[in-house]
Amino acid sequence: MTEKALKHIAIIMDGNGRWAKSKHLSRNAGHKKGAQVLLEIAKAAQQIGIEYLTVYAFSTENWKRSDEEVSGLMDLLREYLSKNFDELKENDAKILFIGERYMLDSDIVAKMEELEQQTRNNQGMTLQIALSYGSRQEIVAAAKKIAVLASKKDITADDINEKMFSKLLYTANIPDPDLVIRTSGELRISNYLLWQIAYSELFFTKTLWPDFTKEELINIVENFTKRERRYGKA
Ligand code: FPP
Repeated sequence: MTEKALKHIAIIMDGNGRWAKSKHLSRNAGHKKGAQVLLEIAKAAQQIGIEYLTVYAFSTENWKRSDEEVSGLMDLLREYLSKNFDELKENDAKILFIGERYMLDSDIVAKMEELEQQTRNNQGMTLQIALSYGSRQEIVAAAKKIAVLASKKDITADDINEKMFSKLLYTANIPDPDLVIRTSGELRISNYLLWQIAYSELFFTKTLWPDFTKEELINIVENFTKRERRYGKA
């Protein structure tokens, strides 16, 4: 068995609320700090040569949070999409969004599309942001697309295989994650990239997302490389 390269890291950025509470701040202040950390970690990932970074910024389940928290997150998103990606863009990063866009306000979707368009030909790291994303919904949507193709007789049952199914997901042209990191000590996957992480290594850290650092990312990457070496020898 050859060593697996670490091309793609997926992160569940959890713990903003608990971080805020510990500092007697509002939950939205925790998200604001979390968003700053996301930019720092994206930059760090780029510096250490990660080709793809996918982050869970807002799940389909997150719509059930209080109106105040949801609108705070949406305002943060508006602000970030408008100005905070400049440095990543200058570093040639490609920015993509995955998720149920129709659930987001149209001005936000317009900004997302603009960023995707502006960075479409960039050759640096790809930053994929999961927004209003749910993996089961993604898989069901792919199954529906297959049903439509079959009903039009564009495909037969024999045309359906893992490769063609993967191409119908939001992540169509992105290799599967090699490593998933979840912060804040929760040991769950929470409807994140269920199809794509079938063979990924999992890493859970107790650090709350707003306290996550480049140094910890580097430690986790080193730990991954060691695990891979051990499996290689077995
Ligand atoms: C989980 O913490 C985090 C979220 C639901 C949102 C993650 C969002 C960000 C880090 C900001 C990204 C923003 C932009 C603009 C792309 P939690 O609220 O579940 O924390 P808790 O479990 O401690 O309550």
